[in-house]
Amino acid sequence: MFKIGNLKLKSNLILSPMAGITDLPFRHLCRKFGAELAFVEMINCRSISHKSRKTKHMLASSALDKPLGIQILGSEEKYILKSLEVLKNYKFDILDFNAACPAKKVVRRGEGSSLLQEPKKFSKILKLVVKNSWLPVSVKIRAGWDKDSINACQIAKLAQDCGVRALFIHGRTKTQGYSGQVDYDIIREVKKVLTIPLIASGDVFSGPLAKKMFDETGCDGLAVARGSLGNPWIFKEIKEYLKSGKITKRPNEKVIAKIMQEHFNACVDFYGERNGVVIYRKFYIWYTKGLCKVRRLREKASQARTRLDVDKIIKEVLR
Ligand SMILES: Cc1cc2nc3c(=O)[nH]c(=O)nc-3n(C[C@H](O)[C@H](O)[C@H](O)COP(=O)(O)O)c2cc1C
Repeated sequence: MFKIGNLKLKSNLILSPMAGITDLPFRHLCRKFGAELAFVEMINCRSISHKSRKTKHMLASSALDKPLGIQILGSEEKYILKSLEVLKNYKFDILDFNAACPAKKVVRRGEGSSLLQEPKKFSKILKLVVKNSWLPVSVKIRAGWDKDSINACQIAKLAQDCGVRALFIHGRTKTQGYSGQVDYDIIREVKKVLTIPLIASGDVFSGPLAKKMFDETGCDGLAVARGSLGNPWIFKEIKEYLKSGKITKRPNEKVIAKIMQEHFNACVDFYGERNGVVIYRKFYIWYTKGLCKVRRLREKASQARTRLDVDKIIKEVLR
């Protein structure tokens, strides 16, 4: 068992939040393969406060979609407080505060990873969130802003002192974005200064890399992001590898096509045909990575418009 504050989890394998990706259909799928905790796509506090239709749809969940976290992004007290009020109407299990997002438009507003450069502001905001949250609060950080200002240990300690119940770290700096390799050393250093659970993120693309993350950093849990794209069974693979040391074979094309169809049907159910098809296109590309003779199919996927178009190219994976 794994605990974050009063939240009891059956395992420490987590689907990391990914904007534009970790929607309800994808979360359902990853949970089937063993993701224990999952997060709704990151949402800005301003958007939550405005309660737009799009935001409400992003916040949608189901009885199977548990335990579930919400990740918020923001820096303005007014919107943070308002968004927390709105979120009280939803049944989340954990609230994560994002201080890791490297996107230009986010950083420009003084949010996400830009907070790593402003420990005082970071601490003030986090205290506010913790004080006003009815859920255990966690925070997501990066190693630091750039290689000359790596301050994850200081920021992590600060976050712990503000009362957060767990820390998520992506072991890269803001300026690295997603390039280079995850820094295991910095994650290990952060683990040493914390008493709350540390969940590590970065380059967990397989069972052996999951084990490497645990072994090299001493982290308490793993958050998997890119490794799940077109590969939601990674959670099962990681579980099996950690238990037996055996590397599981990738599912065959028949099984992959079945999962693709299930995922696509769920997208259409959730978004309707028009948006479901558009949203699913990128997943089709990820699922078919590494399969033989799929170039033409992938081209078709990027132009698909109807349910029938996608049904056809999923079937064609098997030919
Ligand atoms: C497309 C994409 C969207 C992401 N969106 C978020 C986000 O909204 N919130 C967040 O905390 N991290 C986000 N991340 C970062 C991941 O959660 C994760 O920390 C990072 O990708 C490193 O893990 P990985 O090597 O397993 O991908 C995103 C990553 C990707 C690739």
